[in-house]
Amino acid sequence: MRKLYAIGIGAGDPEHLTVQAIDRLNRVDVFFVLDKGEEKADLVRLRQEILDRFVTRPHRMVLVADPPRDRTPEDYRAAVADWHAARAAVYERMLLSELPDGSTGAFLVWGDPSLYDSTIALIEAVLARGNVAFEYEVIPGISSISALVARHRTTMNQIGRAVQLTTGRRLAAGWPSGVDDVFVLLDAHTTFDRFASEGLHIYWGAYIGTPDEILLSGPLTPALAAEIRSVRAEARERHGWIMDTYLLRRPAD
Ligand SMILES: C[S@@+](CC[C@H](N)C(=O)[O-])C[C@H]1O[C@@H](n2cnc3c(N)ncnc32)[C@H](O)[C@@H]1O
Repeated sequence: MRKLYAIGIGAGDPEHLTVQAIDRLNRVDVFFVLDKGEEKADLVRLRQEILDRFVTRPHRMVLVADPPRDRTPEDYRAAVADWHAARAAVYERMLLSELPDGSTGAFLVWGDPSLYDSTIALIEAVLARGNVAFEYEVIPGISSISALVARHRTTMNQIGRAVQLTTGRRLAAGWPSGVDDVFVLLDAHTTFDRFASEGLHIYWGAYIGTPDEILLSGPLTPALAAEIRSVRAEARERHGWIMDTYLLRRPAD
């Protein structure tokens, strides 16, 4: 039987790795890393650094190219379903060719595998195809939002209040009802802009946990929104890519 791990490696700082993650890393023969293109080369390097630092047994790293995705489909849901099916086929082939029966493989998952990450769904899709059998285990990691609030020395929720995790695209549709704290990930369009002058507080971070980390926070005024926009644009230009996330807080009375 093959064995697979989906290991959360934290959001950028090698010291985010848990003792459990380090233990599992040291049971692995083959590490699979999804190569998302040139701009993410820095992230592949970080994974290599983690292996160099924490793994003491012989192992291999296999880079897997993501199948191309239609970014402007007419039918968004159908395009995503097609893409997931194509990915499952790629991974199935990869497991069959790179992971001999009886050996152990792992996916190194950015942050925590439970948060806006498709590794678990992908593993389930490969299993469902029924052509390759394996057991698998998920090892939690420090997510970008845990790292964000820790770096800003704040909490995810206000006392007894609800929190929502969402994407920039969804936030653009309006403030979610019934919550005072909203974490926004995957926002390429600085959607917080729309909420300047609404009495909110923002805790923003980019490249959290890495040497390039940038943190900004304060009452979300148009001036602060403009500052974050400009710092973000400049950093994105300099690095060629950016990963940022933020918490919008409506202070409870
Ligand atoms: C595909 S999601 C993956 C989230 C990841 N599984 C986690 O636990 O944080 C990618 C988004 O996470 C956020 N993110 C991940 N790492 C980050 C970091 N080091 N600094 C800031 N934001 C980060 C960004 O919003 C980015 O667009």
